[in-house]
Amino acid sequence: MTLLRVLSVTSEIYPLIKTGGLADVAGALPAALADCGIAVKTLVPGYPDIIKAMPAADTLLDHPSFFGGPARLLGVTYQGLELLVLDAPHLFARPGNPYLGPDGKDWPDNAVRFAALSRMAADIGLGAIAPLVPDIVHAHDWQAALAPVFLHYHWGPRPGTVMTVHNLAYQGLFPYETLGAVGLPQDAFNVHGLEYYGQVGYLKGGLQFADRITTVSPTYAAEIKTDEGGMGLGGLLRERSAVLSGILNGIDISVWNPATDPDIAARYSAGELSQRPANKVALQQRFGLDPKPDAPLLGVISRLSPQKGLDLLLANVDTILSEGMQLALLGSGDRDLQDGFAAAGKAHPGRIGVVIGYDEALAHLIQAGSDALIVPSRFEPCGLTQLCALRYGTVPIVARVGGLEDTVLDATEAGASATGFKFAPVTAEALSSALRRASVSFHDKPAWQRLQGNGMTTDVSWRNRAGRYAELYHDILATRRIATHQERAL
Ligand code: ADP
Ligand code: GLC
Repeated sequence: MTLLRVLSVTSEIYPLIKTGGLADVAGALPAALADCGIAVKTLVPGYPDIIKAMPAADTLLDHPSFFGGPARLLGVTYQGLELLVLDAPHLFARPGNPYLGPDGKDWPDNAVRFAALSRMAADIGLGAIAPLVPDIVHAHDWQAALAPVFLHYHWGPRPGTVMTVHNLAYQGLFPYETLGAVGLPQDAFNVHGLEYYGQVGYLKGGLQFADRITTVSPTYAAEIKTDEGGMGLGGLLRERSAVLSGILNGIDISVWNPATDPDIAARYSAGELSQRPANKVALQQRFGLDPKPDAPLLGVISRLSPQKGLDLLLANVDTILSEGMQLALLGSGDRDLQDGFAAAGKAHPGRIGVVIGYDEALAHLIQAGSDALIVPSRFEPCGLTQLCALRYGTVPIVARVGGLEDTVLDATEAGASATGFKFAPVTAEALSSALRRASVSFHDKPAWQRLQGNGMTTDVSWRNRAGRYAELYHDILATRRIATHQERAL
């Protein structure tokens, strides 16, 4: 295959800035794509954490005025990632969460901030840095979704475009006036363009105009074409279903590797599980749980948002107690859920341990020390924690939705090849019966060890998944008859 150049556009990238799985994907996919002959550069906003990490960057572009202030485009290689950083202090020099101000509300200029990111992507796509013209611009989520839109409204040759939906719940909706403010034409404001019930929809625009749409699992690709799962965009996605596909996420198996993980108490592997219990001991200690090897220990690592269905787990405290289980939960988000879990922890010390916050290292210990990982999501585009769980010999108990459906094999259905437990509908009752099924299985040692072993030998890496993106990129160029940068150079 010919070498292709891709510009990936994302507002988060592991290990520099992360609020969720988007960062993990953006950080891990480039290396996997390199093995498929795809050279990826990633455009990211110059948040303080990113600027701090790269003192020795080259200045590739210098704009005295870009969306209301001076901006530079910096180029740097960071831990194997080829980064292009939009250093625009008036937009991005704000510490903390990339989207929220100190009051916990969206920054009022988010429309401009992420239009600027997308505009820069489009400019690079159109040759702003001559040696770096990409064949494909690949936009992730609403923050990058105007990139395909700007390229669509450009007159003349342009690179191919891909819009990947990591989560349809976040659409980037802004008032009508945004259109002019970010330099989009007035005629984009119609139902076949960016207009969404009187507002401007960034993600809608990307979905409308990208050459191809992908999402992060086949089941979610089907769900978002329905009225219920489409979150107001189901009709559009049905219309564009010929160019929509689901490509399952992988995880970075060098970051998530129980045999080398520096953040866990004792290292182990699929063939040698004898050290694994030391992690349970450490986890019980860390969460103030009773030091009981025989109590099934449930782990949760999650944003606390309605999507994740953790209210259903809170409604199951009685089941956890009556089954002799323990819970170690790490999460942050909705105030009500934080308070609810904190109160459950207080009411049942030794049985329910709760850490409210975001802690990457603790997430690793939970994966290594829990017996089962609970993911009761109402919808889940892919989900990464259940993939990490499989790799760590932690048995996933998941709702039967989206990528959870595609990545876990249920104990009752899959027989000898099962890897976990799935439940539907997504209700507290169905979760309760899944917990009880898991509890029975936990006390049947050979059955549980089979689940663990199957999980640990499941391929959750990007190795066999990145190729799907490579095929997609080639397909776009072939269909649109776009010459690759190599062919143009001949
Ligand atoms: P989403 O992106 O919807 O939050 P994913 O399962 O795709 O869900 O990805 C979540 C990522 O964020 C995983 O890498 C998970 O380990 C991590 N994560 C979520 N919450 C926390 C937390 N409180 N502390 C540390 N890591 C977390
Ligand atoms: C989103 C989704 C999650 C997915 C992640 C990475 O945050 O909620 O399901 O795994 O993106 O694609």
